[in-house]
Amino acid sequence: MRCLIAQAEVLAFIERCMLAVGSKPSHAKSLAEVLVEGDRRGHYSHGLNRMDVYVKDVQTGICAKEGEPVVEKETVATALVNGSNLLGPVVGNFCMDLAIKKALNVGIGWVVAHGSNHYGIAGYYSMQALRENMIRTLGTNPISVAAPAQDGDSFVLDMATSAVALGKIELYDRRGDIIPEGWGCDAQGKLSTDPGKVLDGGGLVPIGGGEVTGGYKGFGLGMMVEVFCGMLAGSQYSRYIRTWKGTDRVADLGQCFVAINPANFAPGFNSRLSDMLSLHRTLEPAKPDMEVFTPGDPERIHISRCEELGGIPYHINVVKFMNDCAKKIRVEPLLPCDRLISDS
Ligand SMILES: NC(=O)c1ccc[n+]([C@@H]2O[C@H](COP(=O)([O-])OP(=O)(O)OC[C@H]3O[C@@H](n4cnc5c(N)ncnc54)[C@H](O)[C@@H]3O)[C@@H](O)[C@H]2O)c1
Repeated sequence: MRCLIAQAEVLAFIERCMLAVGSKPSHAKSLAEVLVEGDRRGHYSHGLNRMDVYVKDVQTGICAKEGEPVVEKETVATALVNGSNLLGPVVGNFCMDLAIKKALNVGIGWVVAHGSNHYGIAGYYSMQALRENMIRTLGTNPISVAAPAQDGDSFVLDMATSAVALGKIELYDRRGDIIPEGWGCDAQGKLSTDPGKVLDGGGLVPIGGGEVTGGYKGFGLGMMVEVFCGMLAGSQYSRYIRTWKGTDRVADLGQCFVAINPANFAPGFNSRLSDMLSLHRTLEPAKPDMEVFTPGDPERIHISRCEELGGIPYHINVVKFMNDCAKKIRVEPLLPCDRLISDS
């Protein structure tokens, strides 16, 4: 069962929790906006479900409460930013704005940050470029490319370089469900459908799965992202990255944000992209009752569903868990849901 909660209520709840542990109001707001957008887009793995991690990071002081990101090195098209160990969305928004400004001036803006923290869904940042009619690409471990088509349509690829995001496995674990085969492995490297085993010393499987099914390509994509982030930023990388949820040392994550202005290239970008999207959406589906989607379509469908329902449907266990978290920091809980809806 899922319960429906108004978007504004979830935003206010996350802000309340972050303020209670000492975040600046603007930082709390930036985090709440990214997490709620994750849920609205159907990526529950990177929304409210993750709030406890950010609360703990700020509460323990391992993530900074004060300060703003700082530009350390800059040219007309590039910048190296010190994220000042602030919440990831604060760093992400700063870098994206800077990349867009540079792309408006010289056609491209390539901004790399070190000293950052986890920033939620990558697509949140790549989609900011759409407002300026620009293509934006970025990565940490996820990769996202957003490009504007016509009449508000767009291509929004936003994906983990593992078969699924770790947050999805946490979500299954929190709900008490088993995970599909091919998502993760246990501590011995054997594929497992038990989310507990994957989270307890096991790991994620790269896109493609095992070697025979091309998993080495997902592995390569993950390393490519490290070249643009950890290598360029001089931040932590690969196995030097702090264990997920660890608070023993600062995260010092590296992130890369790129904005490209299509106006600097061949004319007609938006209409060509609309045409390409429509060519793919109108392909004949393998099963007649299914539709062919392009990247960003499943999220658009989820957003429409939330709009029709008048709120975001959450699994009841996630709400209970977060309300327990809030109680510990003496914060008013999420409003009890008066509407329950089925999982379908
Ligand atoms: N910040 C981090 O460190 C981090 C790490 C990993 C993932 N994430 C986030 O987790 C979220 C989930 O990632 P994921 O890889 O599990 O997403 P996913 O597998 O649900 O979707 C990946 C992409 O595929 C597209 N897609 C999905 N189904 C499709 C279909 N049937 N046809 C065509 N396109 C389709 C989606 O629109 C999306 O662009 C993303 O928002 C990502 O940014 C963040």
